[in-house]
Amino acid sequence: MTQHHPQSMRAFLDAADSVVRIDEAVDPAFEIAACLSHLDGGPPVVFENVAGHDLRVTGNHVTTLDAVASALSTDRAGLQDKLVTAVGNALAPALVSEGPCQEVISGDPDLAGLPIPGFFEEETGPYITAGAIIARDTLTGRANLSIARLKPLGGNRAFIGIAPNHHLAVLARAARDRGERLDVAVTIGNHPAVMIAACLYLGLGDDELAVAGALFGEPIEVVPCQTADLYVPAHCEIVLEGVLDPDETVEEGPVSEFHGMYERYGAGYVVTFGAMTRRKDAIYQAVLPGYAGEHIYLGAVAIAAGLARSLKGKVASLAEVAVTHGGAGRLHAVISLNEPRPGAARKAIFAVWGAVNLIKQVTVVEGDVDPWDAVAVEHAVANHMRPDRDLIVVPGVQADRAEPLEQGGVISKLGIDATRHNEDRADWTPARPPADVMERMRAKLKL
Ligand SMILES: Cc1cc2nc3c(=O)[nH]c(=O)nc-3n(C[C@H](O)[C@H](O)[C@H](O)COP(=O)(O)O)c2cc1C
Repeated sequence: MTQHHPQSMRAFLDAADSVVRIDEAVDPAFEIAACLSHLDGGPPVVFENVAGHDLRVTGNHVTTLDAVASALSTDRAGLQDKLVTAVGNALAPALVSEGPCQEVISGDPDLAGLPIPGFFEEETGPYITAGAIIARDTLTGRANLSIARLKPLGGNRAFIGIAPNHHLAVLARAARDRGERLDVAVTIGNHPAVMIAACLYLGLGDDELAVAGALFGEPIEVVPCQTADLYVPAHCEIVLEGVLDPDETVEEGPVSEFHGMYERYGAGYVVTFGAMTRRKDAIYQAVLPGYAGEHIYLGAVAIAAGLARSLKGKVASLAEVAVTHGGAGRLHAVISLNEPRPGAARKAIFAVWGAVNLIKQVTVVEGDVDPWDAVAVEHAVANHMRPDRDLIVVPGVQADRAEPLEQGGVISKLGIDATRHNEDRADWTPARPPADVMERMRAKLKL
């Protein structure tokens, strides 16, 4: 078997415990989405035969927390530390002269030639959803890597949907203010480490590709683009090189969001692609958008790691931060604290709201509860939370535009202190068989 470069999506697929290969012909219009939806929570999927296209399609790479951890060569217990450490130890990318993502080079690409899936009934067209987009501010030299959806508009043009507070939108507005357009490179078919790095909320100008390098334990190899002064991961599958024109906008129509419903955000920018480079036998990557495991967890682990970094200096007892699946990987956080001092839970709640606008509900548990385990968290709420004392509701807080219940740009926030309060009970001892007997029986029966 060919040994694939460790920074490639192919190496990730090779290392996966199993891959679902679908040989039956599938139509990019909804059939790929339907299969990814049925197989959500399972192993990666490769569509070997896509009707009307030579290229294969792959998706569902990391649809669970365990899958994310394993893709980063760690486990659940080590995942957050690995991400936080990588952010603090970013490794600048290494420029190489050639890479497989440039085996085939074509100018003026027709996006209709790519097997871009149509996902959801009410959306107005197919979307590129796994595009990790590289851009750079020509004035400051600051680079940025982030994911944003692209909807083909015919030929080499696409709509791009970027939240106004995201750094790519900030760079686009800065270019417009200088009377310029913004070069972008949409890279498709990346290792999960690159996808997760793209979702981190870092400072403007902190290059997420350098964090991807730290996750690999070596600088990420990049090659120069053909038409733009940008560098792209050498081992990705497909690169679309283009120019974002901040003066040209088009209406989008309904689009799915992480919460699982449609949003109508209005107009967005247009990108025109001047070149496409790709591997000879490129595999097109799709992330099932909406309320689907991969979309949820790519964002959730990145936002949780960012929160852990931000809370570390402020809440001394911090153990771990989770951004939950049920909260669509964006709206609900759970914070675990080791032996919190009085008031630490409330401080943590306000610190989370201050750090990430999207988070609406924060639950605080103690360090013996896994914050990613929804049942364990509910058990802590059931045993420790007194509604008259431990709920904080803050009305009228500025909301993210993706908040499903925002009205007039505001939403109320809920904090739940589910830590133990000594005044509530004299005895918190968990009812269990004696510890020595538990251990003896585990050893004896190899439990
Ligand atoms: C699969 C996937 C699709 C995404 N699509 C979009 C999108 O269409 N628009 C957007 O603004 N953010 C989208 N995001 C979220 C951003 O990539 C993420 O918030 C990123 O951190 C923003 O980059 P920035 O920190 O450089 O601003 C998506 C994330 C994932 C995982």
